Amino acid sequence: MSNYAIILAAGKGTRMKSDLPKVLHKVSGITMLEHVFRAVSAITPEKNVTVIGHKAELVREVLANQSEFVLQTEQLGTGHAVMMAEEELAGLEGHTLVIAGDTPLITGESLKNLIDFHVNHKNVATILTATAENPFGYGRIIRNDNGEVVKIVEQKDASAFEQQVKEINTGTYVFDNKRLFEALKNINTNNAQGEYYLTDVISIFREASEKVGAYVLRDFDESLGVNDRVALAMAERVMRRRINKTHMLNGVTFLNPDATYIDVDVAIAPDVVVEANITLKGHTRIGAESILTNGTYIVDSVIGERVVVTNSMIEESEVKDGVTIGPFAHIRPKSVLGKDSHIGNFVEVKGSSIGENTKAGHLTYIGNGQVGDYVNFGAGTILANYDGKNKYTTTIGNHVFVGSNSTLVAPVTIGDSALIAAGSAINQDVPADALAIGRERQVTKEGYAIGKPHHPSTK
Ligand code: UD1
Ligand code: CA
Repeated sequence: MSNYAIILAAGKGTRMKSDLPKVLHKVSGITMLEHVFRAVSAITPEKNVTVIGHKAELVREVLANQSEFVLQTEQLGTGHAVMMAEEELAGLEGHTLVIAGDTPLITGESLKNLIDFHVNHKNVATILTATAENPFGYGRIIRNDNGEVVKIVEQKDASAFEQQVKEINTGTYVFDNKRLFEALKNINTNNAQGEYYLTDVISIFREASEKVGAYVLRDFDESLGVNDRVALAMAERVMRRRINKTHMLNGVTFLNPDATYIDVDVAIAPDVVVEANITLKGHTRIGAESILTNGTYIVDSVIGERVVVTNSMIEESEVKDGVTIGPFAHIRPKSVLGKDSHIGNFVEVKGSSIGENTKAGHLTYIGNGQVGDYVNFGAGTILANYDGKNKYTTTIGNHVFVGSNSTLVAPVTIGDSALIAAGSAINQDVPADALAIGRERQVTKEGYAIGKPHHPSTK
């Protein structure tokens, strides 16, 4: 039988105190909604319906082309939200997974187990539950003396006795699709919040003597529902541990996994060493045997093998094998650092391609440069790429030697093996093999310093 899925994502998330809809807050680099969607994909639903409402267009963008969407114009409760999917699903034979968009830690594995359990027990409804040490805020699972689930009560509707119950509703369920939409016709708003609760369908099924069950998660962490920023930080921590553990099991060394922040879609090859206080974001990839030291921050970049990055920032760039970077270097977007090149301390590279074995050891700015192989930048070299309005390219051939404290005023081209004298301002092309000196000649006046205040003769 087919599987269907409904993701509830119409709420505002008042307790987040945010302009952004709750499900668009990120955990380890992707939105909570994407986490949920990825988990749901594990059950290969034939139809995936996302219920949107608050800032619907923003939410729709995140799953565009991957889900169908139905609009819940007024957020009248989770039961009302599911009703919105009726036009898409009612009448179909199959199992329908309903999941809240604010439970980013639930895994695809658990959802598969939930479906299997539901099918094996021939249930009409199966609730994914967990045991919470502090169940406050969650709906409680109420069982009879035989241990059968009879209903779910919300925190605000629970009696003192019911509030003692530690088994909670994760907000994830599997239903017989047809029976779900029939039962939803019978829910009402007679409760503490005046909302249509999805959870009320459980007692409706029970009263009709239909089989209801619960599949208990072993790991409470998975069930975490994010309603405020405190829970968001908790989710982030759990996700971080999960991600880092996966990398460790794949052969990556971490000096302090609790102080290492790696987004879900980052890939790291074996034998990489990740020291403490490292952030790897977006679609970053790190090649084998590379070393990232304290303070390194890399966004959407591809790092090759045997690269050493020391306390530096790299954004949207490509770093080839054997490169050494830092400390305190900044590689800005659209840069490519060639094999075995070296970008040292206080060097900034932006929108530039750097050839193999090229070195910029200290205090240099390389902006919009097309730089060949085996180039040496002396300390304090500046590619002056900007005239206040437009950016221009500096093209530098192979084996060029740029003396310290030189300014290359773009657009300008330096030929292969040319030599730029230290302290030059270069604003004309330099042919291959030439020496260019772009500075005043030195004037030396013999004996002129004698008698000046600094001179020992005046002391
Ligand atoms: C819900 C459950 C509760 C469970 C908890 C798990 C109900 C009545 N309660 O409570 O038993 O323990 O989740 O985290 O279902 N939403 C809509 N439209 C609405 C209302 C909500 O789309 O009209 C969406 C929200 O965007 C959110 C999800 O449904 O993604 C859950 O809503 P929320 O208000 O967070 O429910 P809880 O109070 O946490
Ligand atoms: Ca919630």
